[in-house]
Amino acid sequence: MKYFSWSVITIVGFAGSTIAQDLGPSLYNPPKQNFTQKLNHGSNDNTTFQQQYQINTAFFKPGGPILFHQSEEGPLVPLNSSVFTDYAPELGALVATLEHRFFGTSFPAGSAYNNVTTEAYAPLTLGNVMQDSIEFVNWIRQTTPGAENSKVIYTGGSYGGFLTAIALVQHSDTFYGGISGSPGLTSWGLSLTLEDNPFRYGASDWVSNVYYDANYAAALRIKDALNELKMPFQTSSSNLDWSNILNVVLVQQYDEFAQFNFPTKTEIIEIALALEVVINQTLAANSTGELLRAPILMGNSIYNGTGCADWEN
Ligand SMILES: *[C@@H]1O[C@H](CO)[C@@H](O)[C@H](O)[C@H]1NC(C)=O
Ligand SMILES: *[C@@H]1O[C@H](CO)[C@@H](O)[C@H](O)[C@H]1NC(C)=O
Ligand SMILES: *[C@@H]1O[C@H](CO)[C@@H](O)[C@H](O)[C@H]1NC(C)=O
Ligand SMILES: *[C@@H]1O[C@H](CO)[C@@H](O)[C@H](O)[C@H]1NC(C)=O
Ligand SMILES: *[C@@H]1O[C@H](CO)[C@@H](O)[C@H](O)[C@H]1NC(C)=O
Ligand SMILES: *[C@@H]1O[C@H](CO)[C@@H](O)[C@H](O)[C@H]1NC(C)=O
Ligand SMILES: *[C@@H]1O[C@H](CO)[C@@H](O)[C@H](O)[C@H]1NC(C)=O
Repeated sequence: MKYFSWSVITIVGFAGSTIAQDLGPSLYNPPKQNFTQKLNHGSNDNTTFQQQYQINTAFFKPGGPILFHQSEEGPLVPLNSSVFTDYAPELGALVATLEHRFFGTSFPAGSAYNNVTTEAYAPLTLGNVMQDSIEFVNWIRQTTPGAENSKVIYTGGSYGGFLTAIALVQHSDTFYGGISGSPGLTSWGLSLTLEDNPFRYGASDWVSNVYYDANYAAALRIKDALNELKMPFQTSSSNLDWSNILNVVLVQQYDEFAQFNFPTKTEIIEIALALEVVINQTLAANSTGELLRAPILMGNSIYNGTGCADWEN
């Protein structure tokens, strides 16, 4: 992995406090920080809590966009696992991620996961979640030279995809655009066919487009291999459609490599330039088995080029 040196920059913080931050050793992994956020927006109650975030200004050019990931339910989604980090150099963008209130360490003082009372969780409202994002990105705009007029692009996946849709519908004055990842909207449901629910298969279309664009020959080989994979299983007496299950697993692996093609390892993919690597291995494979084994091993945390995949990890 290549390390870059960061200069120490000073950001004038919310409510006049000054946060000096050393942006750490890796271009893709700036340190976590805390933002002082109001617990009950739009009220006289001035109680605050510490909300964790990361900001990466390494690629930012004055006037460039702010690519903002509102982390979903769970701990802070680190910037090194956000596709926005991949977009930043080309767009001259600032990239930021904000932990969701009541997850990770972003709890009000005296409150905790295991203290589930109606009173303690009362500030966990959609309105407050939206306002957290707004306060945070406005603070970035006010404190980052050249970002005053930056357009903000919002993203999140699943529940965060739903938040993206709400942010764009209700707060288009703050959020210029958004990328809603598998939102819990029309894509929900037990639909099994394309006719039933075209949204369900949108991600697979995107994945194959990425591979066709990146390397046409490799994409054709993957397509043939996935088709061939169906055959031996079709005569199985098992009620479970294993070929379909394996297909879903494989497409998901190919999907992740397509999204995280950084020259460094990421939180999700432990192989640098994963898209290039899987394409090279696809082209080098001498059999269907070898071809389809590549993504499974690459997506496995014990991957070292040999051995079998460890399904537990
Ligand atoms: C942010 O504050 C919380 C307490 O509210 C703390 O647990 C966490 O470690 C802090 N994070 C950072 C990066 O300082
Ligand atoms: C909260 O802060 C605002 C602005 O400083 C102030 O007007 C208000 O009185 C404060 N509320 C309480 C309950 O202290
Ligand atoms: C649980 O939350 C309530 C309401 O916020 C608070 O008064 C109480 O001190 C908390 N108890 C613990 C053990 O954290
Ligand atoms: C990604 O960032 C997280 C959070 O800062 C860190 O814990 C993790 O080690 C990083 N992963 C890599 C592969 O650098
Ligand atoms: C993939 O193969 C190409 C052509 O041989 C090579 O230039 C490139 O460095 C390889 N990429 C990786 C990540 O190994
Ligand atoms: C495919 O076969 C060639 C020739 O036997 C060999 O050099 C190459 O290593 C094989 N590819 C893989 C991925 O094993
Ligand atoms: C690679 O991983 C396999 C287990 O899948 C292990 O048996 C083997 O010793 C490892 N090789 C190296 C060089 O670490």
